Amino acid sequence: MATAVRELMSAPPVTCPGEAPLSEAARLMHHHEIGSVVVTDGPKVVGIVTERDLLRSAAAHADPLVETVRLWMTAHPDVLGPEEEAAAAWSSLTHHHYRHLPVVDDGGLVGVVSLRDLVAVAQIRPAAEAGIDVPRGLEGVVVAETGIGDVRGDEGFYHYRQYSAVELAAARPLEDVWALLVDGVLPDAAGARSFAAEVAGLRHLPPGLAAVLPSLAGPGSAASPLDVLRTGVSLLGSELGWRPTLDIGAGELRAQTLRLAAVVPTLLTAAHRLHRGLEPVAPRDDLSTAANYLWMLLGEEAPSEHVRAVEQYQILTIDHGFNASTFTARVITSTGADLAAAVTGAVGALSGPLHGGAPSRALAMLDEIGTADRAGAWIREAVSRGDRVMGFGHRVYRTDDPRSTFLRGVARSLGGPLVDLAEEVERTTVEVLAELKPGRRLYTNVEFFAGVVMHTCGIPRDMFTPTFASSRTIGWAAHVLEQAADNRLIRPAARYVGPPPPQPVPPR
Ligand SMILES: CC(C)(COP(=O)(O)OP(=O)(O)OC[C@H]1O[C@@H](n2cnc3c(N)ncnc32)[C@H](O)[C@@H]1OP(=O)(O)O)[C@@H](O)C(=O)NCCC(=O)NCCS
Repeated sequence: MATAVRELMSAPPVTCPGEAPLSEAARLMHHHEIGSVVVTDGPKVVGIVTERDLLRSAAAHADPLVETVRLWMTAHPDVLGPEEEAAAAWSSLTHHHYRHLPVVDDGGLVGVVSLRDLVAVAQIRPAAEAGIDVPRGLEGVVVAETGIGDVRGDEGFYHYRQYSAVELAAARPLEDVWALLVDGVLPDAAGARSFAAEVAGLRHLPPGLAAVLPSLAGPGSAASPLDVLRTGVSLLGSELGWRPTLDIGAGELRAQTLRLAAVVPTLLTAAHRLHRGLEPVAPRDDLSTAANYLWMLLGEEAPSEHVRAVEQYQILTIDHGFNASTFTARVITSTGADLAAAVTGAVGALSGPLHGGAPSRALAMLDEIGTADRAGAWIREAVSRGDRVMGFGHRVYRTDDPRSTFLRGVARSLGGPLVDLAEEVERTTVEVLAELKPGRRLYTNVEFFAGVVMHTCGIPRDMFTPTFASSRTIGWAAHVLEQAADNRLIRPAARYVGPPPPQPVPPR
C-alpha cells in the first residue's frame, strides 16, 4: 500500500508534560476530541497516555487532580516515521493492540496516528475484521468437518465414508450407497431391500406440484429442466410443509431427504417429457432408481447394461467433497432454513457451466471436432483463443479424475464410434494442454466420459446435468443432515477494496 503515515496522521499532536495531573490529560482529550495525549519532555517523546489509561486510573480510585500522567502513561511507546507506509502502522497497532502511535521525525514529535486514521484508508481492514487471508476461490481451505467423504486430489482418489466411491460403484447398487450416505452404514442384504423399497414408494409427485408442472415445463416454456428442478424443489418444500431445519429433529429431516431425492428424478423426467409435448410417465416402484429413471425418461424399459451404466454414473456423482453446490447447501442449512431452501440453492450453484454444466458441452465439442484427425488443430486453436476445453481440468484433481477413469471403462464396455472418438480426443487434448499449459496437469474430469456414457444410454443432452443433479441430490441431502446435526451459522468475511470510507454523501 502506497499511503504514507504523514498523509494520515493528526498534526500538530496534542501534548502534555509527564508532571501534568491526569485531569489535564482528560481535559485535553475532551477538548480536542481525541483518544490520546503524547507525553513529552521538550521535543522528546517520553510516553503516551490514552483514554484507556484514564479508565484504568479511575478504576483504581486514583485522584485525577493529584496523580500525574507519568504514573499512568505507557512509557517509551513505539513510534513511527512520517514516511513509513500505513501498512507498517497498521501492523504495529494491531500487533500490540495499540490504538495510537506518536509519529517522530528527526527526533521530534510531528503527529499522532490512530486506528481511526488507518481504517479510513482503503485496503486496510477494519479492526474487527482482523482476518485470515484465504486464497481466491477458497482453494484448499478447510471450512467444515464432515464424515460423509473426501477427495484426495493428488492421489486421484475419493471416498464416501470409509469406502472408495469407485469401488462402491463397481460393487453396489445406488440405493445401498444412498443408505450409506444418509445413515452412515452400508446396509446388509435385508437392510438394503427395505431401504430400496422405502425410497421406491416415495417417487410420486405430490398433486400440487404435478398440477403446476405443465405450465412450468410445457412446450412453450423457456425453462430448462434444471430451472424446473430449482422451482420444483422449492414448491415441493412448501407443498409438503417442510419446516426450518432449526425447528425439526433428525428423524423428520431424514424422512424429508428421502422424499426429496426420490421425487427429483420424477420431477426432472416429467419436466423433460412435458417440454416435448409428451405425457409424463408415472414412476414404478418395482424398478431400481436408475431403471425407473430411464423408464420415466424414455417411456420404455432400458436394457440392463444401460441401467447399470447410468446407475454407476449416478453412484459416482452422489458426492464429491466440498464442491460449490454442496457448500451452498450447507451454508443455507447453517441459517436453519428448510431442506427445500438448501437444495434449491444447491441446484442454482450446480447450474453454472464451471460446475455441473459441462457434459453436454463436452459432447458438443466432440461433435464439432467430428473426426479424430481434426482434434489436435481444434484444441490448439481453442486454447490459443483462451477458451477452456470442456471436460478437462479440475480444481482438486491434479492427476486422472477417478470418475473419469471409471467411466472410460464403462464407455468402453458399452462400445460404439463415439467412444472411440472420445478416447482419441482425450489423448490429443491431454498432450496439447500439457504443451500449451505446462505444469497445470490438466486431465479429463468426470464430465468428459459422462457425456459419452449418457449419450450412449439414450439420455438426451439437455438431461445430462439434470441426471447429475438427480444423484447429487442424495449427497446434498446427506450434507444437510450433517450440517443440521451440528450447526453453526457459516458467516465469513470479505476484504473491502472499494473507495476509502467514510466519504461525505453528496447531495443529489
Ligand atoms: C474445472 C475448472 C473450472 C477448474 O478451474 P480452476 O481450478 O479454477 O483452474 P484455474 O482456472 O486456476 O486454471 C489453471 C490454469 O489451467 C488452465 N485450464 C484449466 N482448465 C482448463 C481447460 N479445461 N482448458 C484449457 N485450459 C484450462 C487455465 O486457463 C489456467 O491457465 P493459466 O494459469 O495460464 O491462466 C476448469 O478446469 C475448467 O474451466 N474446466 C472446463 C469446464 C469443466 O470441465 N467443468 C466441469 C468440472 S467437473
